Amino acid sequence: MGKVILEVKDGIGYLTINRPDKLNALNNEVLSELNTIIDDINKNSEIRVVIVTGSGEKAFVAGADIAFMKDLTPKEAVDFARLGQEIFFKMEQSEKPFIACVNGYALGGGFELALACDFIYATENAKLGFPETGLAIIPGFGGTQNLSRLVGKNIAKELIFTAKMITASEAKELRIVSQVFKTKDEMIKFAEDVAKQIMKNGPIAVGLAKRAIADGFDLTKEDGLKYEASLFGVAFSTNDAKEGLTAFLEKRKPEYKNS
Ligand code: CAA
Repeated sequence: MGKVILEVKDGIGYLTINRPDKLNALNNEVLSELNTIIDDINKNSEIRVVIVTGSGEKAFVAGADIAFMKDLTPKEAVDFARLGQEIFFKMEQSEKPFIACVNGYALGGGFELALACDFIYATENAKLGFPETGLAIIPGFGGTQNLSRLVGKNIAKELIFTAKMITASEAKELRIVSQVFKTKDEMIKFAEDVAKQIMKNGPIAVGLAKRAIADGFDLTKEDGLKYEASLFGVAFSTNDAKEGLTAFLEKRKPEYKNS
């Protein structure tokens, strides 16, 4: 069994980090498998939405692998960080939505994996945080950048400087997590319902909207608006937009063909 598993069913890609004996910690092997699987997901037109989770009940991902990192040289550490960042950035740039289902610990690189997804659900027992400064290192897979963009610099600094873990409900209060569930099964079922709702919509439009939000976020307001207008134009070049607008006027359900 691989360290990262991808199953596809009814348009949903179920991506599971599968190294439960080490709480799904990310070493080079896991990252390399994840890299290949993200490429496969991007190429696979059957997959419309991806649900990301960790194997077992205890952890989503408890971080980058500390045993693996212990003897890295500074150069190797940079390469390891860049590899993780590139993979997570590829998820952010993907036209498919990624939903993180955080079951248990999402720490360090695991929290960063969740932050690379488009939104995060969590179980009541989830614990999220950046323990890195406690290990005398810093987050390296995008955490300083993504958390500060999500919750603002002050909260990001507080969480990263203290290295404290927060509960799922605290994470919801900070708007890191959108919904909290009693059990993993309940969470996955809810994520599947959300995925089905997304899949009713124009697939190219969902991808363009993701791009407009992700890439537009760091632009000035003026450039962001120009970018949005240009992607609005791209949507009008698709057959699906013609179908969606016509179906509304003809009072029928649209049939999208992803073209
Ligand atoms: N790296 C390597 N191994 C890990 C790991 C990690 N991040 N997290 C857990 N494990 C391993 C443990 O070493 C243990 O292995 P053995 O059974 O072989 O000893 C196994 O997983 C089970 O873990 P514990 O026995 O520690 O379980 P616990 O219930 O007592 O504690 C925990 C759970 C609080 C999550 C604890 O495991 C922990 O603190 N883990 C480390 C969390 C961490 O610091 N993550 C950040 C890493 S740095 C990073 O991610 C950098 C970056 O941004 C790129």
